[in-house]
Amino acid sequence: MTEATTTIDRYGVMGYPISHSRSPVIHRLFALQTGQELRYELLQVAPDNLETAIRQFQRTGGKGLNITVPHKSEVTRLVDQMSERASTAGAVNTLVFRGSEIYGDNTDGIGLLRDLGVNLGIVLEGATILILGAGGATRGIVGPLLEMQPNSLVIANRSIGKAQALVEHFQSQGPVSACRFNVVPATQAYDLVINATSAGLQGDSPPYPAAAITENTICYDLSYGLNPTPFSVWAREQGAAKSVMGWGMLVEQAAESFKLWRGIRPDTAPVLKQMHINA
Ligand code: ATR
Repeated sequence: MTEATTTIDRYGVMGYPISHSRSPVIHRLFALQTGQELRYELLQVAPDNLETAIRQFQRTGGKGLNITVPHKSEVTRLVDQMSERASTAGAVNTLVFRGSEIYGDNTDGIGLLRDLGVNLGIVLEGATILILGAGGATRGIVGPLLEMQPNSLVIANRSIGKAQALVEHFQSQGPVSACRFNVVPATQAYDLVINATSAGLQGDSPPYPAAAITENTICYDLSYGLNPTPFSVWAREQGAAKSVMGWGMLVEQAAESFKLWRGIRPDTAPVLKQMHINA
């Protein structure tokens, strides 16, 4: 069987489902801005077919891939080398094909930090942070957030065991603690509340902890959508200082992947602006 190859460098994003992904638009804008010639494809790959699809993409001249839900954890088994931040996160969102070797990295955490710090001007050093949810998304951001030396980081989850397991994993890296979703300690004001649950994606609106929000709290939803997410609407209703969806993190993590592949970091501001216009 012959497989199609191309001389243009090929990249893509693998996920399941994938049709909603904005990554092709973002990477096309980056390529245009930096004068790079490349192709970026949308690749719907079911979990059973992940390894075959990755190896075929590599064999046919693929240079790199983004890996998204639900494959970010599973793909760690397939990489030959992994960055430290990917291994701490237990998840890979970027593959770089180097000859026959596969290198795995994770740009989600740095993407969030850049959006919070550079785009939104939030000072994380000394901040009190609350994360809602204790799944893969949370695991990917706790390490990078702790590196910024917050005053405290509380992980609240419906299943307390998952939050406690994350605390055990990260406690040597900073002041992190766990609590139940519905009993968030309100003994202190939170500077930043991050929604990392998948509740909104499933159309759920769980009882988010209202006591955690003051007029000084910034609320950040890792989810994003054409319409405001349930959490971002709720946060606004509570009178939060700011309520932001994760578009910026999406664009920033993409820029870090682009840099890994092409050695050049695109300017994210115009692309982020364009995403908002499209949104
Ligand atoms: P991801 O990799 O996107 O983080 P995940 O690993 O499935 O996805 O985790 C989803 C997170 O959203 C979990 O913290 C989950 O809580 P549980 O661990 O208790 O299941 C949380 N979540 C999903 N739906 C929720 C809901 N309706 N209310 C509260 N938490 C919810």
